[in-house]
Amino acid sequence: MSVLNGKHIVLGLSGGVACYKAAELTRLLTKAGASVQVVMSEAAEHFITPTTMQAVSGRAVYTSQWDGRESNAMPHINLSREADAMLIAPCSADFLAQLAQGRCTELLGLLCVARPMDKVALLLAPAMNREMWAHPATQRNLAQAVADGAVSLGVGCGSQACGETGDGRMLEPEEIVQELEVFFTPKLLAGERVLITAGPTYEAIDPVRGITNRSSGKMGFAVARAAREAGAEVTLVAGPVALATPRGVTRIDVQSAQNMLEIVDQQAPEATVFIATAAVADWRPAAVALHKIKKDGGGAAPQLGLVENPDILARVAASARARSGVLYCVGFAAESENLLEHARAKRERKGVPLLVGNIGPATFGQDDNALLLVDSAGSHELAHASKRELGRQLVVELAHRLAAARGRNPEGVNP
Ligand code: CTP
Repeated sequence: MSVLNGKHIVLGLSGGVACYKAAELTRLLTKAGASVQVVMSEAAEHFITPTTMQAVSGRAVYTSQWDGRESNAMPHINLSREADAMLIAPCSADFLAQLAQGRCTELLGLLCVARPMDKVALLLAPAMNREMWAHPATQRNLAQAVADGAVSLGVGCGSQACGETGDGRMLEPEEIVQELEVFFTPKLLAGERVLITAGPTYEAIDPVRGITNRSSGKMGFAVARAAREAGAEVTLVAGPVALATPRGVTRIDVQSAQNMLEIVDQQAPEATVFIATAAVADWRPAAVALHKIKKDGGGAAPQLGLVENPDILARVAASARARSGVLYCVGFAAESENLLEHARAKRERKGVPLLVGNIGPATFGQDDNALLLVDSAGSHELAHASKRELGRQLVVELAHRLAAARGRNPEGVNP
C-alpha cells in the first residue's frame, strides 16, 4: 500500500503548458489511494479545463475565492484545513513571484498563504521555459518561497514545448508521485549511506555471447527506492537490467562480477549499510575470446573452462568495518527449495547479521515476491506482496535492526 493512501492533496494548477500533465498526475495520485482536490488559477484554465480535472479527480474544481458553494464563503480556509499537503504542479514563474510576495489576489495564492504552515506542507513542481527558469528573478523568488517554508521538487531537463531544450520542464507525473512518497515516508534511515547491488551479472564468453541469469533486478531496485524514501543516501550498483533508476538514487552500471566487485570495493568504505541483492554469476569463462567463436563445421562444441567469481558479499562482510558493526551487511539468498535451512546456512557462511531468503525461480522477473528474514534471533516471514511493498517492509525491518545495533530508537525519528 502506498504511503499516499488516505492522504488528502490539494493540487494547485497555475498557468503553463505542463497543465496537460496534471490530469495524469491526478490519476496516479488517486490510484495510490490519495484524494485530490484541484484548485486552478485563471491562467491554468487556458491550458486544461476544470471539467477534465473534475472528471479525473472525482471532485468539483475550485477556481475562485468567490465560489458560492462553500456555506461560509471561505474556500481558502476550508480547503487548506483538510489537506495533508498542497502541491502546485505546474508552478509557473508568475506563481513563484506571487508566492515570494505572499500575494492573495487569486484563490490559489490565497490558499498557500492561508494554510496552517506547521501542518500542511507546500510542495512546488516548477514548469517554464529554460530562460524563464534561469532568470535571476525566478531563482530569487523560488529561494524566497523555499525560505518561507515551501519545498521545491526541482525541474526536469529536456525538450520544451517552445522548441528549446534545457532545464525547466515540469517533472513527469510518475516522478512527482515518487517525490511525494519520499516526502511522506518516515525517515527511518536518515544519516545512513546504503550501498546496494542488484540484477544479474554478465560474464562474456566472446564479444556476442555470455553467461548470465534470470534476475530482473526488480527486488534490488525496490529496496533502493524504499531506502531513499526512508532518508538514506543510496548508491545502486546494477548489473545489466532494463529498469528506470529510482529518483534520487545514484546508479553505477556494471556488467561482470569482477566489475561489480571493483565498484563495491570503491564504494563500501563510505557506506554504513551494504545490501547484496545481486544474483552474481558464480562462474565466468576462464578466457574471453577476442572474436566471435565460430562453429568448426564438424559438430564439436567449444570447451568452456570456468573459474569461480569472487564472493562480493563475503568479502565485504569480512572487512574490518563490517566486523566492527560500522557497516551493516545484508545478504540475499535465491534458493529453489528448503529456504529456511539454506538461508540459515548461507547467513553463517557469508558472515552477515541479516540474510533474506526467497525462492528464485518463483520470483525472477516477477513484480511480486515473499521474503524470509533470518538473523541471530530466528526467522521472520514477509508475506507475499509486490516487490515495491516488500522493499518498504524490508527497510523498516532493517531500520529496527540498525537501531538495535547502534543503540538508537527508530520510532523517535520524525518523518
Ligand atoms: N553474492 C555475492 N557474490 C557472489 C555470489 C553471491 O555477493 N559471487 C551474494 C549475493 O548478492 C547474495 C548472496 O551472496 O546476497 C547469496 O547469493 P546466492 O547466489 O544465493 O548464493 P551463493 O553464494 O552463490 O551460493 P549458492 O549458489 O551455492 O547457493
